Amino acid sequence: MKAIVYDRYGPPSGLRLRDIDRPEIGEHEVLVRVHAAGVDPGVLIFLAGRPYLVRLTSGLRRPRVPVLGRDVAGVVAEVGARVTRFRPGDEVYGTSLRGSYAEFTATHERRLAGKPANLTFAQAAAVPVSGMTALRAVRDTGLVRPGHRVLVIGAAGGVGSQAVQIAKAYGATVTGVCSPTAADFVRSLGADDVVDYTREEIDRDGPVYDVVIDTGGNRPLSLLRRALTPRGTLALVGGDWTRGALLGGYGRQMFGAPLLSTVVGHRLRAVSARERIEDLDELRDLVESGALTPSVDSGYSLAQTVDALRHFSDGHPAGKVVITVSHPAT
Ligand SMILES: NC(=O)c1ccc[n+]([C@@H]2O[C@H](COP(=O)([O-])OP(=O)(O)OC[C@H]3O[C@@H](n4cnc5c(N)ncnc54)[C@H](OP(=O)(O)O)[C@@H]3O)[C@@H](O)[C@H]2O)c1
Repeated sequence: MKAIVYDRYGPPSGLRLRDIDRPEIGEHEVLVRVHAAGVDPGVLIFLAGRPYLVRLTSGLRRPRVPVLGRDVAGVVAEVGARVTRFRPGDEVYGTSLRGSYAEFTATHERRLAGKPANLTFAQAAAVPVSGMTALRAVRDTGLVRPGHRVLVIGAAGGVGSQAVQIAKAYGATVTGVCSPTAADFVRSLGADDVVDYTREEIDRDGPVYDVVIDTGGNRPLSLLRRALTPRGTLALVGGDWTRGALLGGYGRQMFGAPLLSTVVGHRLRAVSARERIEDLDELRDLVESGALTPSVDSGYSLAQTVDALRHFSDGHPAGKVVITVSHPAT
């Protein structure tokens, strides 16, 4: 099969499109014929092997898994002997730990769920990592309730564009922080108001937000707290991973927020990176009810993966960048 592989950590230019063996599946695993795969910052972090902390899981000297990509949407091609939830032919979406930028990927059955019926594969591949993160930020960390005022920083991004819609579905009034070119897009997601981060700061209206969801990752905690009501909650999703070789920008949520949280009235919480079937199921319900529509900024072929990653890093996409995988007629 064709796959995007990398032998060493580095920039996207080190990626190669190669013919490699299809992955073998274990007894609880599923072989998925990949139709689309999403791009998220985690992919760039694994590719760069930076911040270095990530190498504890990805391999100290060189990548342990040579195929890139985590989000996947496709069709079940084979199932392991003990798989109970899927059969060949099922349309699925979820995540792969063995690399989804390939014609086939293998993943545990508990990392997949049925694809939302009303989405294309490209749209479905835009949901898993970003959608699960957005859901956790709104539901579990932010504890968003009807009537809450919620501020989403990075509202045009992969996580933010879904957090805006999910917070609306949970009954909140939502303000999105984005660049001026993305303002119409963010309003189209359902945001009631927009803050243009090139002209205004997030504390423009004073301490009015019950929940601030920060996916931008580059503001100090003191500024983020100035936008919160006295008992408000800060959900820290993002860190600027290019800042600092060891921890990237993630020191803020790993150490700063938990420590400060013990002495101030605000709840300051990092959004943790769990992936659960129940969350994929809830996201599918939100999508099929019309409350959540993933936005695909642009699609690239497998052979154009390097361009896709460059556009994601530099192109200020509105919503998600997705790689689509075509299969020769069989
Ligand atoms: N905790 C977890 O489990 C988890 C999971 C997934 C992602 N993440 C993290 O969450 C963050 C966001 O991920 P993503 O996939 O949404 O990335 P993304 O698609 O690149 O979105 C980031 C957004 O931040 C915006 N932004 C940049 N500078 C800003 C500023 N000064 N003020 C406000 N917004 C600004 C960008 O807008 P412009 O392009 O217009 O500048 C972009 O829309 C990343 O740090 C990622 O590592 C965490």
